[in-house]
Amino acid sequence: MSFYVTTPIYYVNGEPHLGHAYSTIAADILARHHRQRGEDVFFLTGTDEHGEPVTQEAEREGVDPRELGDRYAPRFKDLAARVSASNDFFIRTTDEGHIKRVQDVVQRVYDNGHVYEGTYEGWYCPRCADFKTESEIEDGSRCPIHKIELTREEEKNWFFRLSSFQQDLERLYEQRPSFVEPDFRRNEALAFIKQGLQDVSLSRRRLKWGVPVPWDPDQVIYVWFDALLNYYTALGYGRVGEDLTGEFWPAFHILAKDILKFHAIYWPAFLMAAGIEVPRGMYIHGFLLMEGHKMSKSLGNVLDPYKAIELFGADALRYYLFREVSFGQDGQISTQGFEARYETELANEYGNLANRTLSMVGRYREGVVPEAVAEPELAGGFEGAAERACELLDASELTQALEEIWKLVRRLNQYVEEAAPWKLAKDDAEAERLDSVLYGLAEGLRVTTLLLHAYMPDTTGRLLEALGEPGRELAEFGSRGGGQQLGELAPLFPKLEPAD
Ligand code: MSP
Repeated sequence: MSFYVTTPIYYVNGEPHLGHAYSTIAADILARHHRQRGEDVFFLTGTDEHGEPVTQEAEREGVDPRELGDRYAPRFKDLAARVSASNDFFIRTTDEGHIKRVQDVVQRVYDNGHVYEGTYEGWYCPRCADFKTESEIEDGSRCPIHKIELTREEEKNWFFRLSSFQQDLERLYEQRPSFVEPDFRRNEALAFIKQGLQDVSLSRRRLKWGVPVPWDPDQVIYVWFDALLNYYTALGYGRVGEDLTGEFWPAFHILAKDILKFHAIYWPAFLMAAGIEVPRGMYIHGFLLMEGHKMSKSLGNVLDPYKAIELFGADALRYYLFREVSFGQDGQISTQGFEARYETELANEYGNLANRTLSMVGRYREGVVPEAVAEPELAGGFEGAAERACELLDASELTQALEEIWKLVRRLNQYVEEAAPWKLAKDDAEAERLDSVLYGLAEGLRVTTLLLHAYMPDTTGRLLEALGEPGRELAEFGSRGGGQQLGELAPLFPKLEPAD
């Protein structure tokens, strides 16, 4: 089994922010989870360096657009590393390997008869690099996403016959109901298709910064086709000396609602036109909001992920984002909310559970997990839990899956209180029961921690090591028998000093 997951590639027109990190973390959780299930995984992220959004910023700063890519691509790469993203490759659309392959595919679409020369006039947003249909325009002439004035543009350029894929797309949506998830996003995309599709421009004449149209080098390929193709081109050169296309294509895409239309409509149609298999699926998430606004560079409302990671660690941030905001919906985030969950859930619930379990096994059983059978009242709560989490993760329901896993953390804490091992330890007649309780706690903690591993790779890695767990595959409760020597564990989520 193989699994190929992607993030959007981010524009290099400004510093990366938490919104970008969010998509990257989401894709990373899926990548890690599928690796834990023994699948071959390829995880791709990267930067989108051509087109209007980047050219505009370059003009404003009076620099060559290439310079922006060289400045910001390393920052995006660094942010991915800091949030513990386990991407297998980082694509830049300025890579030679990408450019060459984009031209190949676009040429194929042309050869297949899906391209013609024409003129387009309409309302254009340079930040979106997109013409807006009448129904998308806000307040007469504003971009609904960037809140800036749209400009009236006329262009003579090459067109992609999107309209001729109307039926194919409708059929695709019918045959593959989960092609776009969640459902309400699928319905949104389908409604857009059913309105009637118009052809879209495939090239830009005024623009110099982009991939030259192979049969008309005076024009560059429209940035959206160049960008979408990254998902496909990367497999051709992302691992040196190998073509991974056969092994990993088609991809599963993670993205937010702002770029739904490109992914859910243009992209599959373009692939069909090129004779390439359409994506395996895509999950469309919402926006992280601070004080009710979409967090973005242009609105200037940015929470600094670097600071959060420096103070609390990447795992805490990863956990918070997927716990606080129901994945798929827009959701408010705040530094106060983050700190509160760090304290109450990560430190008090999970961190304490880990430390208590290890220290009790240490104190009462010399650090060796007893070989025993867990009490049914505990074991019962774990039945089917891993399976439920897997099902939810298969549907990219990252928040619901985490919710299920967190129930196990809470169940274990409740069990510690109920079973009160410190009382059992005082009574020799209860030695067997104490064995059973300690075994159950260690086993429950192990199984739960394996499930949490995709969300919080670093802290869970440390805990699993202390639990003497060599592998990272998901496990059923009771599948390990006891007898392990437990190690030392520094607090997983230390309390912050006020000075911090
Ligand atoms: N370059 C295009 C994407 C091309 S993909 C073939 C682009 N880039 S972007 O830099 O604007 O990134 C947009 C994506 O970043 C969103 O779709 C989303 O995945 C992520 N986010 C940016 N801000 C976000 C929030 N405030 N909240 C959640 N995700 C956000 O569009």
